[in-house]
Parts: sequence; structure tokens; C-alpha cells
Amino acid sequence: MTALLTTANWSSSHWIKALRAADPGRNFVLHGVDEYDPASVRYALTWKPPEGLLPSLPNLEVIFNLGAGVDAVLSDPDLPDVPLVRLVDENLADRMTEWVTWQVLTHHRQGLAYLDQQHNRLWRVREQPIAADVRVGFLGYGVLAQNAAGIVRALGYQVSAWSRSPKEADVPIFAGEAGLAPFLGQTDILVVLLPLTDATREIVDARLIDALARDGALGGPVLINAGRGGLQNEDDILAALVDGRLKGASLDVFQTEPLPTDHPLWGAPNLIITPHCSAISDPASVSRYVSRQMAAYERGEPLINVVDRTRGY
Ligand code: GLV
Repeated sequence: MTALLTTANWSSSHWIKALRAADPGRNFVLHGVDEYDPASVRYALTWKPPEGLLPSLPNLEVIFNLGAGVDAVLSDPDLPDVPLVRLVDENLADRMTEWVTWQVLTHHRQGLAYLDQQHNRLWRVREQPIAADVRVGFLGYGVLAQNAAGIVRALGYQVSAWSRSPKEADVPIFAGEAGLAPFLGQTDILVVLLPLTDATREIVDARLIDALARDGALGGPVLINAGRGGLQNEDDILAALVDGRLKGASLDVFQTEPLPTDHPLWGAPNLIITPHCSAISDPASVSRYVSRQMAAYERGEPLINVVDRTRGY
């Protein structure tokens, strides 16, 4: 009845402590540190598990992903055919909302330009539209985007979203391939919160950037990506920032992380770079979620937030 933990670059000591506090009766072992019999492992609690680890557990029943994106788990070609549970956590969603709102406001309120003025001891008021005249479009409308959209909308922005398939929502939804160009054509600030799948890899490229609205109140489109680096073509983004087709951008995720020190994006104009910190999983909150799900599963109740492997999220 062992639950095995792998946390890659996250602090394993925090995680094991939080798990033991949330579920004191359960046997948690830490891969690479604790001795354990692979045959005893019933649950795997993972963040970026080493390839081959999950297939080596013969009695594995459920995989719990400790972050929002499951791309790193699904990339194992021998992934066992057991339910993979996504993390849906209010704490994580609220952190993402903070980051997205911060970036939307920074670009709208010209934070970079004012910082630059400050460095030059320049007192100059810049013109700007009110939020109600700025259109924010969410590319991907899952749990994280919906949470962020609620707050962005409450600030007064015009909010819409694109999703792979039509869905009921409290904002105008553009769906599917046919909806993408019309969606982009009415978006001033694009917030990318898509899962990384074969269908979305490098979706943010020159073509997508060129389809964004150019008639908006900001004087040019802004790109914000907190999904995955694999969603973006970084050469295309760099070129668009340099020649002004993008007025600004905020990137929290990159094709290679950490972003290499000699990467040209570090020097790109009007770009805010953060080190994949938009929504870090909180060990205590996530441990409670996983513990609740394991208990429910053992009572014979269905698992919730199980990944559809054909969709990839
Ligand atoms: C972080 O990148 C996550 O997927 O939660």
C-alpha cells in the first residue's frame, strides 16, 4: 500500500513532510532516497518522473500528477495503463491568476516604460486606454484560464476565450480550428494557458502572432504565455518583439529551462521573463487533494480529474 513520491527539481523534503502531515496513516516513500519494494507501490505521486520509473511498478493502480500539466508524464512511451489524475487545486489556480493579472496590468499600464522612465529620472505621464477598451483573449479555457478570466473580467477588461471544443462559459467562446483566426483577430492581449500536446506544439508562431488584432487600444498586440515553452516558437516571438509586431510579451515558460544565459530572448525588447514560477504547486494544499482522492478511491468512489489520454490533458 505504498505511495511513491518523485519531485524532480522540487524540494522533496517539503513534499514528503507535507504528505505525511496530510495523511499520517499512509506509507510514503521517496524515490532515490528510501528503500522500497516496487511491487508494494500502489500509487505514484509524481512531478516529471524519471522515464522508465512508472513502468517498473508492477502493481501500480493510480498516478497522481503534482503539477497542472501532464505532458512530462505522458511523454513516457511505456506509461502503464492506469488512471492518471490531473491536479485541480484552488491554491494553484489562484497563484496563476495572480501572475496573469500582474502581466495583463503591467502591459496595459505600461509598467516597463515607466520603469525605464524611472531609471532615467523622467517624470512623464503616458496616455492609456481604460481596461474596458482592452480585449484580453485566453487561448485555452481550462480550470486555470477560467479562474484568471474571472478576475481579469472583474477589472473591466473585455474577455473572450478559445477552446478546442465548444463549451458553455461566462465569456464569448471561439472553438476549434475555424474559431482560431476570428478569436485572434479580436484579441489585444493573448494569454496562453493551453496544455502541451501534439496538437498544440509551437502553436504560438509567426502566423498566430500576425493574426492578432492590430486595431486595438494598446497600439499593438501583447503575448503572455504561462502554459509550456513547447507551445511557442521562440525565434518567431523574438523576431516579432524586435520588429514591433508584438508590442510586448511575458513568458514564464521556455523550450529549454532554465533559459540558457546566452539565449537571445534575455535581450529582447519589451519582454518580461519569469523563471517558470507563475503557479508553483503548494505541497500542503496538493497533499490534501491527493490524500482525499486516495481515500475516496479506497472507498470505491470514482477518481476525479482523470486525464483523457487521447486528448492529452
Ligand atoms: C507547472 O508547470 C505545472 O504544470 O503545474
